[in-house]
Amino acid sequence: MEVIESRKQMQERAESLRLAGHTVALVPTMGFLHEGHLELMKVGKRHSDKLIISIFVNPTQFGPSEDLGKYPRDTEGDLEKARKVGVDFVFLPSTQEMYPEGYQTRLQVERVTQHLCGISRPGHFEGVATVVAKLLNITKPHMAIFGQKDFQQLTVISRMVMDLNMDIQIIGVPTVREPDGLAMSSRNKFLSPEERESALSLRKSLDLAGEMFMEGERGARVIKKAIESLILSHPHTEIDYVTLCDPVTLEDVETLTDETLLALAVRVGTTRLIDNRVLCKGSDQIISRS
Ligand code: PAF
Repeated sequence: MEVIESRKQMQERAESLRLAGHTVALVPTMGFLHEGHLELMKVGKRHSDKLIISIFVNPTQFGPSEDLGKYPRDTEGDLEKARKVGVDFVFLPSTQEMYPEGYQTRLQVERVTQHLCGISRPGHFEGVATVVAKLLNITKPHMAIFGQKDFQQLTVISRMVMDLNMDIQIIGVPTVREPDGLAMSSRNKFLSPEERESALSLRKSLDLAGEMFMEGERGARVIKKAIESLILSHPHTEIDYVTLCDPVTLEDVETLTDETLLALAVRVGTTRLIDNRVLCKGSDQIISRS
């Protein structure tokens, strides 16, 4: 496994991989790798013969009051995990390498960023789209793999790739969960044992909505109300949003159709957690959005 810190060297390596006829996959990460990331890498490996991962905590996607400073980091541990999965290249740039003096470009995906996390995290998806575009230009992959846990991020990136005619397949991978159902996230480490118990209210909400949907309930307001009271019955929880929306446009729906996204953002203590499920008959497949 080769670790590359310079963008120029990474671009040269990526170019030679392509010239040699390799199929290249990228898994972009912010490090502190968990099983969810490792699953993205395994999917990447299955679809390609050279796997690049990037580890970069991107400052431009954090708001001024967000947790950039305390975002967990463990580069040595990450490299060890990547090596075990069989990653070929790790792109590990510094902030200076990604945003050198004079840097001034930001990429804006318009409508799908106006909902869900885009409301409480203004500028977040501009930061994500910009850094992902840069990472794609630097690593030149044929495909890039993202988790469906960050459903809106996957939507924004798929839209950007389509709109900018980037010749890259975007693959979404189902959320990996702890045995008790909590979605894997680097931020879970901030939860106290009591908060972690309350954090299970997210998964319970998805199950409750799934049951209501299967029993024929189609009123968004009814489902939303049931979920809100379930979440708030757990201590230390504060709801950012409970939204039922179209899985493509992310616009709110009043009446559920055969495919509706339920997306949640809940603050548990000081930790903001998200989760989602597409309510439809037979959900959780791999979504491929080339
Ligand atoms: O999902 C993440 O970890 C980040 O948002 C990403 C895609 C690596 C961009 O910084």
